[in-house]
Amino acid sequence: MKSVLFSRFFILLPWILIVIIMLDVDTRKPAPPLTPRPYFSPYMAGRGGARLPLRKGGPESGPGRSSQKSNESGPHPPPQPEPPLPTIYAITPTYSRPVQKAELTRLANTFRQVAQLHWILVEDAAARSELVSRFLARAGLPSTHLHVPTPRRYKRPGLPRATEQRNAGLTWLRQRHQHQRAQPGVLFFADDDNTYSLELFQEMRTTRKVSVWPVGLVGGRRYERPLVENGKVVGWYTGWRADRPFAIDMAGFAVSLQVILSNPKAVFKRHGSQPGMQESDFLKQITTVEELEPKASNCTKVLVWHTRTEKVNLANEPKYHLDTVKIEV
Ligand code: UGA
Ligand code: MN
Repeated sequence: MKSVLFSRFFILLPWILIVIIMLDVDTRKPAPPLTPRPYFSPYMAGRGGARLPLRKGGPESGPGRSSQKSNESGPHPPPQPEPPLPTIYAITPTYSRPVQKAELTRLANTFRQVAQLHWILVEDAAARSELVSRFLARAGLPSTHLHVPTPRRYKRPGLPRATEQRNAGLTWLRQRHQHQRAQPGVLFFADDDNTYSLELFQEMRTTRKVSVWPVGLVGGRRYERPLVENGKVVGWYTGWRADRPFAIDMAGFAVSLQVILSNPKAVFKRHGSQPGMQESDFLKQITTVEELEPKASNCTKVLVWHTRTEKVNLANEPKYHLDTVKIEV
C-alpha cells in the first residue's frame, strides 16, 4: 500500500511543480515596455506628478466606505474621477543642417519627461527624411511627423521662417479634432533650438484661452516679458520693436485647442509679414492683449530660453579620403 502511494506521489510530483512554476510566472510583474515611459517629475501638474492632496480621502478609501462624514480618523469619501489631463501639442518646425539631430535629441530628452505631450514635428523639406524618421521612431514619444517645403523665394535672410511648417501643424491639429471637440488640449510652438524647463509645461497646461510668460535671451536683452498689473497684461518689457501689438517671441505663449478649433482661419501669413511680427500677426487673429493669461508668477520667471546654436565649423571636413564608414551625425 505504502509503495503504491509513493509511486503515485512521484508520478504527480513533476505536474505539481509545473503548476507551481506556472502560477509564479503569472503573478510576476509584466516586463517594462521597450519604449521608455515618460518620467514624471515633481514639476508636473496632474497625473503622475507629485501632487498636493487636492481632495480629502486617501487611496484606501473606496466605494461603500464613504457614508460617514470625513474627518481625520474616520473613513473618507470616494475619490472623484480626475478630469483628463490636457494634452500638450508641441509644433516644432525643423530643417536639415549639421546640428539638426543634436537639437532634436535635446528636445526629445525634455519632452520625454512631460506627461501627455504629443510632438508634431514638421520638416521643412519636400519629403520626410530618413534621419528624422529613424529618430522619431526611437524617440519614445507620441508624435506626428509632417513635412512641407518652404518655397524657395521665401528662403532668404530677413524673411520669417517656418511659416508653412507651423501652418501644416495647425492643419493637422484641426483635422484630427474636427469630430471630437470635447478633448482638452494646449498648443505650443516649440522651435528646435530653444531650451525648455519642465516647469514651463506645468504652467502652460492650465491655459484657458491664450497664456503668456517671459522668454530669456531674446530681443537683444537678457529677457523679454509681458508687464502685468492686477493679473492682466498691460504692456511689454522689450528692447526691440516695442510697437509690436504682442511684443513676444514664439516661445512665449500657448493657445488652448478650443481656441485653435473655434478660429479655423487663424494661420501664419506670408503676405505682409515681417520677421518678428509673425507672433503678433497670429495672436491678433485669436485674442486681445486684455484677454491674455499671465503665467510664471505673473510673468516674473524665465522658464524658456531663446538659445541659438552656433553655426558649426566644418572647415576641416575632407573632400577626398572620406571615412571608410558612413556615419549619421
Ligand atoms: C526667431 C523666433 O524665435 C522664431 O520663432 C521665428 O520663426 C524666427 O525668429 C523668424 O524669424 O521667423 P530664430 O532663432 O531667429 O527665431 O529662428 P530659427 O530658430 O532659425 O528658426 C525657427 C524655427 O524654424 C526652428 O525650429 C527652425 O528649425 C525652423 N526653420 C528655420 C525651418 O524650419 N526652416 C528654415 O529654413 C529655418
Ligand atoms: Mn531659434
